Amino acid sequence: MGKGYYISKHLATAAMVLAAIALVTIIALSVVYNREKSKNAAKFTNATTSPVTPTPKTSNEPWDKYRLPDTLSPEYYNVTLWPRLVKNVNGMYIFTGISGVMFTCVKKTDLILIHSNKLNLTLFKGHHAKLMGQSGVTAPAIKTTWFQTEKQYLVIQLEGKLKPGKSYWLYTEFTGELADDLEGFYRSEYMEDGEKKIIAITQMQATYARKAFPCFDEPGMKAVFHITLIHDLETTALSNSQEIKNVIIDETAVTRTIFGPTKKMSTYLVAFVVSDFKYIITVYENYLFGLSKVRIWARKKAIEDGQGDYALKITQPILEFFEKYYNTSYPLSKSDQIALPDFNSGAMENWGLVTYRETALLYDPRTSANGNKQRIATVVSHELAHMWFGNLVTLKWWNDLWLNEGFASYVEYLGADYAEPNWNMKDQTILYDLQRAFAVDSLTSSHPLSQKKEEVNTPSEISEMFNTISYSKGAAVLKMLSEFLTEPVFAKGLGNYLKQFAFGSSVHSDLWDHLQKAVDQTPGVKLPYSVHEIMNRWILQMGFPVITVDTRTGNVSQKHFLLEPDAVVDRKSEYNYEWFVPIKWMKKHQVQDQLWLLQKSALHKPMKVSKNEWVLANLHVSGYFRVNYDLGNWERLLSQLKSDHQVIPVVNRAQILDDAFNLARASIINITLALRTTKYLLHEREYIPWEAALRNLNYFFQLFDRSEVYGAMQAYLKKQVKPLFEYFGIISSNWTTVASGHTDQFTQIIALSLACSTGVEGCRELTRSWFKKWMQNPHNNTIHPNLRSTVYCDAIAAGGTEEWNFGWQMFQKATVAAEAVKLRSALACTKVPWLLNRYLEYTMNPEKIRKQDATSTIGYIASNIIGQPLAWDFVRANWDYFFKLYGTGSFTFSRLISDVTYRFCTPFELSQLKRFQKDNAETGFGSGTQALQQAIEKTTAKIKWLAENKEPVLQWFLSESA
Ligand code: BES
Ligand code: ZN
Repeated sequence: MGKGYYISKHLATAAMVLAAIALVTIIALSVVYNREKSKNAAKFTNATTSPVTPTPKTSNEPWDKYRLPDTLSPEYYNVTLWPRLVKNVNGMYIFTGISGVMFTCVKKTDLILIHSNKLNLTLFKGHHAKLMGQSGVTAPAIKTTWFQTEKQYLVIQLEGKLKPGKSYWLYTEFTGELADDLEGFYRSEYMEDGEKKIIAITQMQATYARKAFPCFDEPGMKAVFHITLIHDLETTALSNSQEIKNVIIDETAVTRTIFGPTKKMSTYLVAFVVSDFKYIITVYENYLFGLSKVRIWARKKAIEDGQGDYALKITQPILEFFEKYYNTSYPLSKSDQIALPDFNSGAMENWGLVTYRETALLYDPRTSANGNKQRIATVVSHELAHMWFGNLVTLKWWNDLWLNEGFASYVEYLGADYAEPNWNMKDQTILYDLQRAFAVDSLTSSHPLSQKKEEVNTPSEISEMFNTISYSKGAAVLKMLSEFLTEPVFAKGLGNYLKQFAFGSSVHSDLWDHLQKAVDQTPGVKLPYSVHEIMNRWILQMGFPVITVDTRTGNVSQKHFLLEPDAVVDRKSEYNYEWFVPIKWMKKHQVQDQLWLLQKSALHKPMKVSKNEWVLANLHVSGYFRVNYDLGNWERLLSQLKSDHQVIPVVNRAQILDDAFNLARASIINITLALRTTKYLLHEREYIPWEAALRNLNYFFQLFDRSEVYGAMQAYLKKQVKPLFEYFGIISSNWTTVASGHTDQFTQIIALSLACSTGVEGCRELTRSWFKKWMQNPHNNTIHPNLRSTVYCDAIAAGGTEEWNFGWQMFQKATVAAEAVKLRSALACTKVPWLLNRYLEYTMNPEKIRKQDATSTIGYIASNIIGQPLAWDFVRANWDYFFKLYGTGSFTFSRLISDVTYRFCTPFELSQLKRFQKDNAETGFGSGTQALQQAIEKTTAKIKWLAENKEPVLQWFLSESA
């Protein structure tokens, strides 16, 4: 197609107009800057220039609601920002900005509410904004302007009314702090060649665009953005759209980059970056725009090192895959992806300028593990999936976030699979989504995927939506939907949905409508009920069913699966906790027709089987439910696993293990039956079942590693993993190479780490000698990247101060982010309490541990048996600090709570948890509220379970390890 790259006439005219206002802009921004310089700009709150008018709590005024009124609709913004990458006279980093928004009045009103947070707005004749009418309309005069700080509004009350159908121009000038707080427009720092470098970057999702410029900051309020950035000559500016002009202003040594107008888009997807980063580029043939630029940006050193090459290589096939899958061209004319040294989440899907933390985009073949490579493929795929689903069509409000994130989390596997067909990506969803979701969705403190829009209002409530339920349950439920509709029908409905709502916004039922239409148009596909009726049961009620197949009678029944069998479910469901369940299944050797379980219990004669047959339900684990059987069928499945496990599909082998352990935890089956599912592992060589087993056994480790069960359990596992360790010893020429298959390399890591932790002869000697060799020659690390995490952790755990200090030095010197993470997590493996305590202290010092890494570092420490109580004490002692830093906005906060309480299983720990809840009831737990409830519920369940099961577990391990 190759239409070549050109700037259209429209764009050229727009550029000229923008150039004409450029000088004015520079002057205006300088004025703003100078004015600010002379002021004491120490405090950047909305309240600095105007007193906040207190409003009573019960007030029902529009500015006391978190949602914007439906009176105004933005059309486009002109935003010019100038970040200062050096400190000002007050020792602060700031940015100055001017912004205009053209909006249309939809309903008559004398009130303008626009989001603005922590910005210091300039006064014009005593007001914080100027208002002008468009096309000959006279705007009413401003009566007063003030800030509703809690709701983050600039409130503009007018003398007269705005007229429906007429457009107005609202203009503001402001300064803001370019803080290192990872939110809004912020700064990131890193060292290069002994020099400290500073860059300015953004993170707007979910409610931080208002911290960069005043805006109607709701996802449904889409508009076009004209962005201009002013920056030093030696830096580059990037934004969502293509730069169309770069004007150097000689005298001031600054330049101005003007970007073309964006497509109509949401504020949370706006992004800008000013840095001295380098890039690599390729062109991508796009049917809409001809050739589009695809660039990967990162620190100069990282790009020169080739660390961006892998991401660049996979971007092209992934975009190609999604164009086909969505049946829609990539909607933009360029795609930039940039790796940032300070970034709160893993990655962010800003339209046309996707931002990543370094580990999610940069790959160094010499030091990164294949797991790091897989992470990059899935994250890139996830974010690029959003370019259509989420960005082109956006869910109207955050209550439907599950559909946006759940969808991207499902299709990320499809995109990654297309780019890396030999990685068995699609099967891995059961580990990273289905099983992860089951773990929280089996608690009474879970919640439905879809919340009512009235239930999600505050920034913390929005932030709390970014959780395992939205991501992982969302992905698992959508996968089930796609499978029972069949993929072509799912993709067809999806494509039509994207066409109808392109550049607009939708609610989840709009997608169901289009899928239903696709079903109606496809003769072969029959559903027992409509897509709406089936899906409502999965998204409007929390939890999932356990399906019990009784092969003696052919009876199939369902029951809400709860980890704590006697738990009381307070949350009512209009569907009575019953689901319409699509069950794919097989009888020994034969795949059968899918059946639908539409009531509590039903007779399905084909499931009645004779003595030498077995039934396997939830074939290929396409459904979001667990399965239980009559004991006879369990026995026959176990003996099949023992005699020839490969007759059962690999993901089902993993699921049998995970179901059995969890059914036992819920006291539905006997724990010894669950433990027996691990016996066949002697013959298992596949990654997914081993990983599923390991997770369930790890759960046992943390329950029992303080009791006498531990020794017997170790002995049994040692016996089980020994053949795997020996197998990999042989195929890797005594651990000098790694296995060739991608997932086999993962299994190899499991073999090494489990063999070393259970004390298989020869294992620890190997890993410790590798580490020692490295300590003797720090410039030549010969440990294979795949094995480094295990080796580092093991050696630091076995060692003392010397090993720790060496690890710390190597961490500080690491130039590849993935290597730094391996060391950062291994440093938490030490058994020396004072080292762990000092390491905890480091998490409050960004010079030592970056803010983006603080909570995960505490989590690593908490997963260490010695570190757990230290981490818990540390978090409680510094609660105010953590709450202030992460409590309301950051989704990592809930992780912090679940990480430090993860090992809790005693009545004493439970009472501590409850005490903690009580002591902090007044400030609350912000975005960690659900996590705390989950911790209490999980601990309660564990205490009860342990009381009943500890003895049989001990006896079983003793008898099996003898
Ligand atoms: N939209 C999110 C990033 C995000 C998360 C912003 C939470 C604000 C709050 C992005 O698409 C995302 O989901 N990123 C993931 C990685 C992904 C591969 C699951 C992340 O950051 O962990
Ligand atoms: Zn996402």
